[in-house]
Amino acid sequence: MNIYKDFSLKPYNTFGIDAYAKYFASFASADELKEILSEKENAGISPFILGGGSNILFTKNQEYVLKNEIKGIEKTDEDAEYIYVKAGAGEIWHQLVMYCIENNWAGIENLSLIPGNAGAAPMQNIGAYGAEIRDVFYSLEAFHLKEKTVTSLYHNDCAFGYRESVFKNKYKGQFAILSVTLRLNKKPHYNTSYGAIGKELEAMGVRELSIQAISQAVINIRSSKLPDPKKIGNAGSFFKNPEVALDKYEQLKGKFPGLIAYPADDKYKLAAGWMIEQCGWKGYREGTVGVHARQALVLVNYGNAQGKEVYRLSEKIQRSVLDKFGVMLEREVNVA
Ligand code: EPU
Repeated sequence: MNIYKDFSLKPYNTFGIDAYAKYFASFASADELKEILSEKENAGISPFILGGGSNILFTKNQEYVLKNEIKGIEKTDEDAEYIYVKAGAGEIWHQLVMYCIENNWAGIENLSLIPGNAGAAPMQNIGAYGAEIRDVFYSLEAFHLKEKTVTSLYHNDCAFGYRESVFKNKYKGQFAILSVTLRLNKKPHYNTSYGAIGKELEAMGVRELSIQAISQAVINIRSSKLPDPKKIGNAGSFFKNPEVALDKYEQLKGKFPGLIAYPADDKYKLAAGWMIEQCGWKGYREGTVGVHARQALVLVNYGNAQGKEVYRLSEKIQRSVLDKFGVMLEREVNVA
């Protein structure tokens, strides 16, 4: 077990921000995590648990960062309808998706190519193209950082919402997720409700639906719109799509007939990317930070941007969307 000092986090966050950790270590099991936490040197400092670093903006140096490297994918159970698959939190999410697709286990094909690790997926209830991890989530094992005990949490314990869970709220900073168990379908329920998927499947010439084809369609759409973090630093959608009440939606729709919105329970979810574009930000660049030219919801680091510069740009965007639409955008990325 190595604890590194003054360690650059640049390769460990997809935004490519060169923040430093005063102490940095990685762990590949709960026992290793326990061992690291018992080091006297760091006693009393709350660790920041890092997964794939794909949903984080570092705006300052960090004290104590522990990278989750717990690996392993296994089928733990099966019944007539379902397969239960347990993945170590440090597994790369997309590799888990590919593994399930190869085995014909259905339910996460719409979530192909989402950057990040399996353990982080339930934290923000990852979602895309009409699906969310909560649709197939069964349970997870989590390590309580203070009590140093392992607990199992089930669906009802996680308070999943749109890009939300108990781990972003009540339990923030308290647990390291060790593993995630998904309950996947033996018989697929194809989800092509999201308009772009149907169009892409058609363009691909797909006649018979399969989870493989849906996954490929999602990969094609994502690759055409979202910047590859290996080439341009980013953390996917920077903001959430805001939800507003019916009267606010009607008022906005009257004023802006092009407004893009989707009904969500008794509210309306507005396409934040569209609003940001209407404010003139799409493709905007200011030094090393900017707004992606093909998807205005994504802020990018073109070079050696500092987290604070990205954050400042996000504040300007919030202000202009608030001025034009009277809606306050909420950040989707975690700011640390
Ligand atoms: N749009 C614009 N201009 C833009 C961006 C979008 O007009 O610059 C319009 C699009 O034309 C479309 C609508 O807004 O009509 C929605 O756009 P898109 O389908 O690209 O999805 P999104 O709402 O911008 C959300 C998720 C993405 C997810 C996609 C697909 C959030 C915050 N983001 O984006 O998730 O991949 O839907 O399901 O909910 C992420 O969370 O990091 C992420 C990338």
